[in-house]
Amino acid sequence: MKPRVIAVDGPAGAGKSTVSRRLARELGFQYVDTGAMYRVVGLVAHREGVSFEDSQALEKLCDSLDLRFEERDDGLHTLANGHDVSHEIRSAEAGDYASKVSVMPIVRERLVALQRSMGEARPTVMEGRDIGTAVFPDAPLKIFLGASVDERARRRCADLADRGDPADQDEVARQIAERDARDSQRAHSPLRPAQDALTVDTTDEPADAVVARILALAIEREIP
Ligand code: DC
Repeated sequence: MKPRVIAVDGPAGAGKSTVSRRLARELGFQYVDTGAMYRVVGLVAHREGVSFEDSQALEKLCDSLDLRFEERDDGLHTLANGHDVSHEIRSAEAGDYASKVSVMPIVRERLVALQRSMGEARPTVMEGRDIGTAVFPDAPLKIFLGASVDERARRRCADLADRGDPADQDEVARQIAERDARDSQRAHSPLRPAQDALTVDTTDEPADAVVARILALAIEREIP
């Protein structure tokens, strides 16, 4: 049987979280943010002084990590070993740590196994970079979201300003381009659309319209 998973992949700032959360809410599906999982591993490794390149230590860290999501009235919370890290994992540093640990095959192997068990347990909207290509290659609906680097930098700056952490848009655009290059050139599960993914450019299309389009497709494919 095919998993009831809608895969939403794409680079940072393409609108994955907004679109995936709304889709999950509309469909009554679980929402899984796999980027948050890499962020948690990066953050815990940093805190425990584990090198991002030490495969054995990262394996131990992953195996002893209790990583879970909890839906609460005020949104989705990310818990690492019982501690709520939802806020800390959103920092620019945690994003950088995540990008570094995510190139390590052992980390991907452990997190992919966890992602599969989450997606097999309940109907799910799962967002990430490799959901349609590696985690659930037989997902019945795969979406690849994209947007121009400038638009993605604009969104990221608006998010940072909301957090009381304003940033220079040109510098953010440079970081995004660098992160894209690292994510799409890595040997293991690089960022790329699955062959059967629907590619959606969100530069000028509002999230509501994107969600409506995907919902229509989900219904057409009898996923809900
Ligand atoms: O989506 P995000 O910014 O929270 O992701 C943080 C980092 O994690 C990003 O640099 C790439 C990595 N990542 C990944 O390699 N595979 C995923 N499925 C999700 C995220």
